[in-house]
Amino acid sequence: MTHSYSVAVLPGDGIGPEVVGSALEVLDAAEQRFGFRTERSEFEAGAQHYLRTGELFDELAEKLRSQDAILFGSMGDPHVTPGILERGFILEMRQRFEQAANVRPVRLYPGVPSPITGLTPERCELVIVRENTEGAYVGRGSTVHAGTPNAVAMQESLNTRAGIERVVDFSFRLALGRRRKLTLCHKTNILVAAGQLWQEVVNDLARLYPEVEVDYVHVDAMCFHLPLTPERFDVVVTDNLFGDIITDLGAVIQGGLGVATSANLNLSGSAPSMFEAIHGSAPDIAGKGWANPSGAILSLALMLGHLGEGDAARAVEAATVQVLGELPALAGAEMGMSTSEVGARIAELVASGQADLSLVPDSLLATLASLPGSRGQ
Ligand code: IPM
Ligand code: MG
Repeated sequence: MTHSYSVAVLPGDGIGPEVVGSALEVLDAAEQRFGFRTERSEFEAGAQHYLRTGELFDELAEKLRSQDAILFGSMGDPHVTPGILERGFILEMRQRFEQAANVRPVRLYPGVPSPITGLTPERCELVIVRENTEGAYVGRGSTVHAGTPNAVAMQESLNTRAGIERVVDFSFRLALGRRRKLTLCHKTNILVAAGQLWQEVVNDLARLYPEVEVDYVHVDAMCFHLPLTPERFDVVVTDNLFGDIITDLGAVIQGGLGVATSANLNLSGSAPSMFEAIHGSAPDIAGKGWANPSGAILSLALMLGHLGEGDAARAVEAATVQVLGELPALAGAEMGMSTSEVGARIAELVASGQADLSLVPDSLLATLASLPGSRGQ
């Protein structure tokens, strides 16, 4: 039987439509090669759509809910007040669709230059799992005496045992399918209330996963260890805000935002998961063909892993890694190929079955298919 999946495509703003266009070309190739199908529905969303209609996530939510997965380009434009799309769309989707785990691989691909001198791909192959629905991102707080010298601002961080448990349990399972090491990253010496709850959950769940070695690193120390000794880490689990910050550091280490990617996973199957490159909409280079579609195509690989198409996922990732290694620069006119040429080359490698699978040594993608929330079960 041919498997078929419904996929909502949200190209968004700026370079989003270009990079998503390339990802869809690669998806066509993967479908032909691996014999599955997707039913795609494209939806308008983002800054331009908001400026025209005033619509944010709310208007789309019910249409998206019935889909198997969401492939997301990028969102943002200088004409929209900062915060509106971030909170009204991105955070709304993560929270309402319970996309509890934000999975962000930090991998240095062969041939991609890292700013960390002497770092090699073998030493940099980890996954950061960021709690994606709680913490400081719930947007709770209050201000009194605003605009006066006596102004007081209180910003709250919400941490529930259930919310922590689901993401920590997922991280243990992910580690089981990899090098079997889980590191909690927090600031337990200062944020004692939240830190204690996180540590307690990790300690309790560790009993269920005796094969997994557990480690702890403070978030400030993480900024030191991550660039200098990334080989220390396999799976890192952390809260929403710390995860936001250290995954940007991770992206820098692996060669820049252009190659970094992420999955926003719903772990219960109650709503679709969302897959996106980490980069923004880069309006200054939109339409020039200078954007590198690799981040978006690698997010497609994560989506395929999540849908249970592990072989296709691996081929897409391998083809992307292979082409990344051939590019003289990661973006801009110096990239040597346009956005669509990079996409076409990756699609060709997938279609011909010539992607070098040894470029994707770990089982992140296959593991994703076996984890809670996967549509492949
Ligand atoms: C990210 C981004 C978002 C975040 C913004 C755009 C809301 O920085 O996905 O890391 O802070 O989570
Ligand atoms: Mg961020």
